[in-house]
Amino acid sequence: MLDLKAFEKQMIPLAYEEAAENELKEIIRRNKQELGEKLVLLAHHYQKDEIVKFADEVGDSLELAKKVSDYKKAETIVFCGVHFMAETADILSRERQRVLLPDTAAGCSMADMVSTEQLKVAWNKLMLQFGDDVLPVTYINSSAEVKAFVGFHGGVTVTSGNAEKVVSWVLEQKKRILFLPDQHLGRNTAFHLGVPLEQMAVWNSVNEEIDFEGDKSQVRVILWDGYCSVHQQFTPLQVDRMRKLFPQLQVFVHPECRKEVVDLADGFGSTAKLIRLAREAGSGARLAIGTDNNLVGRLQKEMAAKGVHIHFLNPMACACVTMNRIDLPHLAWILDELIEGRVQNQITINEETMKWAKVALDRMLEMK
Ligand code: 13P
Ligand code: SF4
Repeated sequence: MLDLKAFEKQMIPLAYEEAAENELKEIIRRNKQELGEKLVLLAHHYQKDEIVKFADEVGDSLELAKKVSDYKKAETIVFCGVHFMAETADILSRERQRVLLPDTAAGCSMADMVSTEQLKVAWNKLMLQFGDDVLPVTYINSSAEVKAFVGFHGGVTVTSGNAEKVVSWVLEQKKRILFLPDQHLGRNTAFHLGVPLEQMAVWNSVNEEIDFEGDKSQVRVILWDGYCSVHQQFTPLQVDRMRKLFPQLQVFVHPECRKEVVDLADGFGSTAKLIRLAREAGSGARLAIGTDNNLVGRLQKEMAAKGVHIHFLNPMACACVTMNRIDLPHLAWILDELIEGRVQNQITINEETMKWAKVALDRMLEMK
């Protein structure tokens, strides 16, 4: 979980903040060259263009999680993404590899919507209500501690790239599932697997009870009340308006969007799947994409050259501010420090948390 003290640690020397873009790029290029195979730079698809250009691998959460151990010679993984992604990289990395996050204040507001304290309360109440009939599943967008809790209780992690596979496995193991922390990914996935909305309930983390009117024994999917503030900005009205303007439009969205938006879309999926869908569109196609605008902006440029017109589903939406905390000054600074033998912003997880979080992650990665 993101440490608030992390904000204080983010005072990188002013010289980096004030340096010209070309100067920063030159520092990064030079340091990367000097560190060679000892360094690997991983970047999530939501990173800014200037960061993506320096990445050895760019991917969605699932792809990046799988890539980590491929870099056998790397001693340092610099993760350009958010805190839970760097934690996941640390859990899955090889011994003696370290993971650095250029700005430790790059958290994920959704991941912070569930703490282990809240989860323990919920779990105890659910056990009293349903007995040993519930299996927990956590979206990879969660802290290492939450992943460990889930792993310890027989559960598994899930990403937007494998949600249907993982959730159907869970529903085969136990009668009920507790899906953390993104209610939208949980609802969209369970619905597409055939679970009716009447069998889903939201866990209200403020009142500490299930929001459900009726016979609670009918509930199969319990959704934590978390959400992504970036993806919740997309609405059915935006889809309708866009379709009125462009009747041939195809709409693709991330499953962190509300179900009402996903229902109106022509396709939905992880960031990697959204890229695939866009690249498969033929010349002359017109698409609207609902996800973070760094990625949509890159796709717009790439696909314009192939005659595909891409719109951002909501041009007024706010970007993921924490993803955008990773910038050239922080990247240049962390690499300069590394060259000087000073390891900054290392992500470390205690042994017990590491052990159980890895159990939850391995269960997911071993799923065929
Ligand atoms: P992906 O796993 O689809 O890349 O999504 C991660 C994320 O944080 C989306 O908001
Ligand atoms: Fe978290 Fe949403 Fe940002 Fe993804 S887009 S990292 S879920 S806040």
